[in-house]
Amino acid sequence: MIPLAKPWIGEDEQRAVSAVLESGQLVQGALVERFELAIAALLGRRHAVAVSSGTAALQLTLKALQVGPGDEVLCPALSWPSPAHAVRVAGAKVRFVDVDQAEWNSTAEALREARNGNTRVAIVIDQFGNPARAEEIRGALGALPIIEDAACALGSRFTSGPCGSLGKVSCLSFHPRKILTTGEGGMCLTDEDDIAEKLRMLRNHGRLRGEFVVAAGNSRMTEIAAALGLTQLQRLDEIVSRRRELAALYQKALGDEMDFQSTPQGAESNYQTFGVVLPQGHDRRAVLAKLLEQGVEAGILSFAIHKLGSFAGSEATLPIAEHIAARGIALPLYPQMRNAEVDEVVRSLRGVLHE
Ligand SMILES: Cc1ncc(COP(=O)(O)O)c(C=O)c1O
Repeated sequence: MIPLAKPWIGEDEQRAVSAVLESGQLVQGALVERFELAIAALLGRRHAVAVSSGTAALQLTLKALQVGPGDEVLCPALSWPSPAHAVRVAGAKVRFVDVDQAEWNSTAEALREARNGNTRVAIVIDQFGNPARAEEIRGALGALPIIEDAACALGSRFTSGPCGSLGKVSCLSFHPRKILTTGEGGMCLTDEDDIAEKLRMLRNHGRLRGEFVVAAGNSRMTEIAAALGLTQLQRLDEIVSRRRELAALYQKALGDEMDFQSTPQGAESNYQTFGVVLPQGHDRRAVLAKLLEQGVEAGILSFAIHKLGSFAGSEATLPIAEHIAARGIALPLYPQMRNAEVDEVVRSLRGVLHE
């Protein structure tokens, strides 16, 4: 079976986790702080605040920015539901924005058009690790605060700098499908001291300098998770360059037959997910089942979030997100995948589509 994704866990990770277990210090401590400093330095941000998931990172960020009832938040319609759900959890309204046909991210123009007098924040997603057009978006939105959902984008680059460097706060995920994994985990990055302090307080029961100042939950990262993250971070370049090689093989093999995500000129994707949009006339469920029979685990690429049950009643019509969500599949891609396995996936996919 060729799996859809597979985290690269080796002896170094096993040793690092064992050392934490032996130390007896299991929750937020020196390793979490080292992991935060390392990611902040890598992405050129002043502060990094480690949390328990990418979703927690988004939820705490909205809270730190005081987004709530009466506010609207712009959010790309094609994604995992977390960013839109986080807005709902904050009590604010999601204004969905369609994505670009080629890059599968929301454009500066679409974000600008969707903005209205109630818009408090724009969430900008680097979907599947593909960098959003950061400079254009920043120019179009002026002083409107941006939250960059860079859950998938560690190791990707805008034309102007690393993903994770856009906006007031950028959020990362370390779920096993992401570029580095800590099991579950996430991080908020910001250059603003007061926002970082709020985020640290919000992840830790609302506690600031010993006092409980607001009612908040527990979103801390464990030392076990940070040990995994620090170990994986040493292999980040290797992981990203291998993912790029594998994506290039897929692009070369499938370029004439299928649409896939394109990267803005001068930017670099980490190919966290390699998606293709199936040509018309094929039933996606049947294609995925047949691939599985042949030993290839492909998956549904993503969601048109406004069409999910959690947004039942939404009247938004966002045709590009809906088209990609209905016809997109994710193909296997992980750093230890062999070139011959890419050939096998391509052969199976062609066989299924042309049978
Ligand atoms: C764009 C995006 N944002 C947020 C998340 C949430 O991250 P986590 O699974 O760590 O909560 C994901 C996870 O798939 C994602 O793809």
